[in-house]
Amino acid sequence: MAVPERVMTNDDISTFVETTNDWIVARTGIRERRIASESESTMTLGAKAALAALQMGNLHASLVDLIVCATSTPECVFPSTASLIQSEIGADNAGAFDLSAACSGFVYALQMASQSIRTGAIDTALVIGAETMSRVLDWSDRGTCILFGDGAGAVLLQRSEQPGGVLSAILRSEGKNAKFLGIPNFGSHDLELHHEAIDGHKLGKMYMDGQEVFKFATRVLSDGIKRAATDAGVRLSDIRLIVPHQANLRIIDAAARQLGFDKSMFYTNLDRYGNTSAASIPLALVEAEREGRIKRGDHVAFIGFGGGLTWAASVVQWTGAGAVPRRMGPLQQLEQLQASAASSLRRLRRRYGSLLNRIRPEEGRVDRLRRRMDKIEDLE
Ligand code: UT7
Repeated sequence: MAVPERVMTNDDISTFVETTNDWIVARTGIRERRIASESESTMTLGAKAALAALQMGNLHASLVDLIVCATSTPECVFPSTASLIQSEIGADNAGAFDLSAACSGFVYALQMASQSIRTGAIDTALVIGAETMSRVLDWSDRGTCILFGDGAGAVLLQRSEQPGGVLSAILRSEGKNAKFLGIPNFGSHDLELHHEAIDGHKLGKMYMDGQEVFKFATRVLSDGIKRAATDAGVRLSDIRLIVPHQANLRIIDAAARQLGFDKSMFYTNLDRYGNTSAASIPLALVEAEREGRIKRGDHVAFIGFGGGLTWAASVVQWTGAGAVPRRMGPLQQLEQLQASAASSLRRLRRRYGSLLNRIRPEEGRVDRLRRRMDKIEDLE
């Protein structure tokens, strides 16, 4: 996993919108979130998480066949963030694409990758959930800006004769409720007419009808977990831990009540990261594993829900990093180190650039871009 260093607390937010720490904690459970610096992006966070996953599996990047990056905050419409990550980590033999299913994206991506492995088409896949939600938030909207944060998580999937892995996945979409949550983009059909606003919403900024999404989430969460367990052929009581999308503690508590589970069955870290959309499940998964909440052989359930509206539930049997064959020779380890060093250098360059922007705001990137645009207009 990878999260930005910069922490933004609820009190920080209360300095620019009318809200309080007490309100945010009581209504959501969120206390703080991480916010990307100017030198960080969906790609840099995703690549950092991907390299960490490869290191944990002791696998060289050249052995990855497929990279799927679930994100709603891609750096560009194209190239895909997955392609940028592929180049950054040196996965020279991999195909790469982004997957757009909002906060359900990680579970969707997991299913796509695991099915590609099961059919025999590929051996190894990196599944990444990466977001810089801070870049698409309307920071004047207290209904959304208090909820989200930035981060990335990644898992490495590999063909194995061992039983386990992704046992089931149920993917659903309710496009009729698309209007409740979205980010208008360049392809929006009204764009030329309204420029800045699409159906009253701001271009490139998130809007949400919180109450409708809340109702949707509480409707699908417990049912999704039950269905995924049935499809996997396991009883609910066989599930060791549920790793839900980290949107709101009240939603998770409601699901626990509906399933008759103790709240501790649901892993949460939203108090520290907020809602990181497609990154939230892998971020929680990594921390749950680190804390020893998941052991080899355990059944773990994932449930994601969000824009689309979409939801996705999955049950996996954890095989853990130990199941991945140790494939890196000394030469490959050296190459991997080189890729990491090159990536660190690029990060350093970006950090230096952003430092310059801070020291000389008049020479900032935006200003430079504006001046360049002005020059082009003058030429025209
Ligand atoms: O990953 C995508 C999935 N997204 C979600 O799962 C989000 C689901 N929805 C939610 O989590 C909740 O609906 C919110 C946390 C967004 C809002 O909580 P709520 O309990 O549904 O609040 P509300 O929208 O019903 O608003 C209650 C009151 C309103 O004031 P009045 O009209 O009762 O006077 C709001 O204006 O709270 C007010 N309010 C706030 N007050 C202080 C709304 N946002 C804030 C705020 N601080 N940040």
